[in-house]
Amino acid sequence: MRVTLPPPEADALVGLRTREHQDELDGDELDDPAEAAADADDDEPGGEGEPEEGPVAIGIEDDLGELPFPREELPAWELRHARRRGGESSYRHQRPNQFYALYVDPAGGKVVGTGQSLPLDEPPDFTAPDGLVAVWPIDKEGNERCWRYIPATMQRLIDEGRVVLGQQSSDGESWTINYWVRKTERKKYKTVWWSKQHDAGTHGTSLLHKFLERRNAFPFPKSLYAVRDTLLSVVRDRPDALILDFFAGSGTTLHATALINEADGGRRRCILVTNNEVDVKTAKRLVKQGHLPGDAEFERHGIFWQATRPRCEAAITGRTPSGKPVPGRSMTGRPHSAGFEENIEFLELVYLDKDDVRQGSQFEAIEPALWLAAGGVGRRPVSSDAEPFVLPEESNYAVLFQRSAFATFRRALAKRPDITHVFLVTDSEAAYAQMCSRLPATLRTSMLYRDYLGNFRINTPEAYR
Ligand SMILES: C[S@@+](CC[C@H](N)C(=O)[O-])C[C@H]1O[C@@H](n2cnc3c(N)ncnc32)[C@H](O)[C@@H]1O
Repeated sequence: MRVTLPPPEADALVGLRTREHQDELDGDELDDPAEAAADADDDEPGGEGEPEEGPVAIGIEDDLGELPFPREELPAWELRHARRRGGESSYRHQRPNQFYALYVDPAGGKVVGTGQSLPLDEPPDFTAPDGLVAVWPIDKEGNERCWRYIPATMQRLIDEGRVVLGQQSSDGESWTINYWVRKTERKKYKTVWWSKQHDAGTHGTSLLHKFLERRNAFPFPKSLYAVRDTLLSVVRDRPDALILDFFAGSGTTLHATALINEADGGRRRCILVTNNEVDVKTAKRLVKQGHLPGDAEFERHGIFWQATRPRCEAAITGRTPSGKPVPGRSMTGRPHSAGFEENIEFLELVYLDKDDVRQGSQFEAIEPALWLAAGGVGRRPVSSDAEPFVLPEESNYAVLFQRSAFATFRRALAKRPDITHVFLVTDSEAAYAQMCSRLPATLRTSMLYRDYLGNFRINTPEAYR
């Protein structure tokens, strides 16, 4: 049974995507969290004598010069003013770090670099290196304003070819400076928790009770639909998204992902991570009874065993832990007992014995990581590195263990067009490069050191080999 998703206007965090809303955006630097936070209250109307912020109009006849992206992508980009507009937050004293010179090369018709921000009491310096012109963010009335970004960010945009000259002033000595921005980068999210479906009591705590057949398995789970709508605000148009929840708790994220996939036929995957926390009261009682962290009796009271795992299993299978169909329906009308098509794997992160790994006896332990790296496609295989190579049937990756078998491996690969990821076990970078050069370029290849741990080590000389 197909269920329907709420319309885009209902996405929890999106707010209404109206023109008015777009206009509020003012081109804020959403990719710089510090700045974005500083800009959060920055939605003031336009300042005196200047049009409000908005994209710079591009005429059909305009010579846009060299573009920093393929010409066919033009509809996805727009030009914005590099100098802040608006009545407030656009003056030098409000953003002193954003008052500096941009150097223009008039002969080449481009912006080539930035100067340093000036202390508030220093006047702008109009001298410039040879052949260049210094342009300061000063408006027609002579007010000292500021650029949209700090020098480092502006320099990055210059290096990417995204900062360009606009109109030249009538005296020919200055320019409007614009920059290219992807239209989609400028979506602003707003909290609009307006729906009853977002109620954590009914659609979090009570819902979890139905799936787990017991109360208090997890304190304050979120509403399934609040999480669904939050995810939708980002993955609605991304049916292959990979969603990561580092603090999985009762597993609402997995349940919500499955609900979205069910509705639109998507193949979104998610990775949930949780510790196995035991609540303080229970932990005290267990310790009193002589059970210590790490003991099976202690650990089985942890969140993973009590909530994350059984909830995920119940959501996908439609069966409670005792095997009964989960009662009731979701808000979309779908019976909970219908479950979902998704597969799940539960993996425990443990420390491996270095010596075992060196002796090559731990491929089994790292294979889940390879399966995940290749996208977690199909049932998780368990392969043996006693073979010269493996191409697990249900999944999309292949592993070559013995270099001497490369020719046979290549022939086997040719018969498996579904394979997208290839892992080549060798300690020789030269051998790895040579093998890669003989494999189709469409395959994603990775080198695996024989000592598998070497592949996952960071901040060590090996990591930089
Ligand atoms: C607020 S809950 C998440 C609730 C979840 N969104 C839900 O609807 O059920 C946070 C979870 O993160 C887990 N957690 C806390 N610290 C962690 C850590 N360092 N690593 C992994 N999980 C952790 C806690 O055990 C808890 O289950």
